[in-house]
This record gives sequence, C-alpha cells and structure tokens, in this order.
Amino acid sequence: MSEPLVIVGCGGHGREVYGVVHAINEAYGEPWKVLGFVDDAPSDVNLGRLSLLGAPFLGALAELAGMGDEVRYVIGIGDPRVRAKVAAKIGRARTAAAPLIHPDASVGLGNEFGNGVVLLAGARVTTNVTLGRHVHVNQNATVGHDSVLDDFVQVNPLAAVSGDCRLGERALVGTTAAILQGLSVGAGATVGAGACVVRPVPSDTIVKGVPAR
Ligand SMILES: CC(C)(COP(=O)(O)OP(=O)(O)OC[C@H]1O[C@@H](n2cnc3c(N)ncnc32)[C@H](O)[C@@H]1OP(=O)(O)O)[C@@H](O)C(=O)NCCC(=O)NCCS
Repeated sequence: MSEPLVIVGCGGHGREVYGVVHAINEAYGEPWKVLGFVDDAPSDVNLGRLSLLGAPFLGALAELAGMGDEVRYVIGIGDPRVRAKVAAKIGRARTAAAPLIHPDASVGLGNEFGNGVVLLAGARVTTNVTLGRHVHVNQNATVGHDSVLDDFVQVNPLAAVSGDCRLGERALVGTTAAILQGLSVGAGATVGAGACVVRPVPSDTIVKGVPAR
C-alpha cells in the first residue's frame, strides 16, 4: 500500500524532489502517494510550474499539522538553514519520509541514512557513510567512504565530498566543489561553488576559490 506524503516547498528544489518520488514510484510500484505541496510563501510562478506538473497545492505549512499521523513529509528546500528551520516548525511528532533514493543514484554497503534524506539522480554514496536527517545529495554529487554528514547538510550538483570527511549540521557544499579527504566543514558553513577545500572550514564561515579561503 502507498504511504501518503506531502512535499514542503514548491520551489525548484521541491519540484526536483517530487521528480525523485515520481521515479521511485515508477521503479518500485508506487510506495508513495503524493498528496501535494505545502508552502508558506509560494510565488505565482512556482504555483504555475506546479500546476504544469499536475501536482496539487495544499496551502501553508500549517495544513500539514492538521493531517493524520500517517501522513509523512519531505522538505524540498535547497537552503539547509531554511530546511532546518522548517523541520523545527514541523517538530519531531510527525515522521519525515524514509530516505528517498532516486533509482539512478547508487548506494554502497554499510551506510546509515536518517529520515528525510534525499538522493537525487546520479548521486553516489559509497561505503560506511552516515547521512543525518534531511541531508540532500544533489544530482551527480559524490560522498566518499566513512564520511559523516550531520543533519540538514546540502551537497549541490557535481560536488565531491572525499572519504573520511565530517560535515556539520546545515553545512552547504556548492556546485562542483571538492572537499579533500579527512577534512571537516563546520556547522552552518558554506563552501562556494567550484571551491577546493584543502584545510578544515570553521563553523558559520563562507569559503570559496581554489584553494578555498
Ligand atoms: C560563495 C557564495 C556562497 C557567495 O558568497 P558571497 O560572499 O555572498 O558572494 P557575493 O555574491 O557577494 O560575491 C562576493 C565576491 O565573491 C565572488 N564569488 C562569488 N561566488 C564565488 C565562487 N563560488 N567562487 C569564487 N568567487 C566567488 C564574487 O565574484 C565576488 O567577487 P568580487 O568581490 O571580486 O566582485 C556563492 O556565490 C556560492 O558559490 N554558493 C553556492 C551556490 C550553489 O551551489 N548553487 C547551486 C544551487 S543548485
């Protein structure tokens, strides 16, 4: 039987997450029934794009609170800080979706994934990796062996997190950035697109460039 699912956020990333759920449903016999999207401040443009997909808009985030406990959710918001705030609003009482793994992503052995994890098409997670709650690994990004990505981390398309890395809560790794092996990126830090991280990144800082500073 399909489990009911609501997607939070009808922006571009939310609609990409919808695409992941759709691909999972096609591949594995409809494990999810998407009831629709909620969003506190949807733009007219995004509502138009949603309707092109034939996906219902259900209203503000508060609508989710009024739904039965069986309804699960996934946060389709690309900014990890906003994702963390929205998760706090929803609270722990409601269960996030089980990890949503696109059929074209690959996952090795011995990994641990929290609820609300999303792996988009082409994401590669190798072995003994831990992904906390609501971690998103975007298209064609890679996460190497033994790395630990804490809750809400966002890895953007084509980024490479090498083996043995530690990424703190809400860290963002920009598109095509590389984190060299064994390094840490502190909580709330941002690694700019195209950066090469060669030394640890302190919490709540922005680094960019090659080597990243
Ligand atoms: C680095 C980043 C976080 C922005 O930082 P910021 O300090 O707010 O950047 P600003 O836009 O104010 O630009 C400041 C300077 O940094 C430069 N800059 C911005 N992003 C850069 C990057 N990724 N690499 C190198 N330089 C960058 C700008 O050109 C500007 O240079 P200048 O002062 O010589 O004109 C952002 O540009 C970035 O790369 N974010 C990741 C985005 C991403 O992954 N998007 C994909 C979504 S799927």
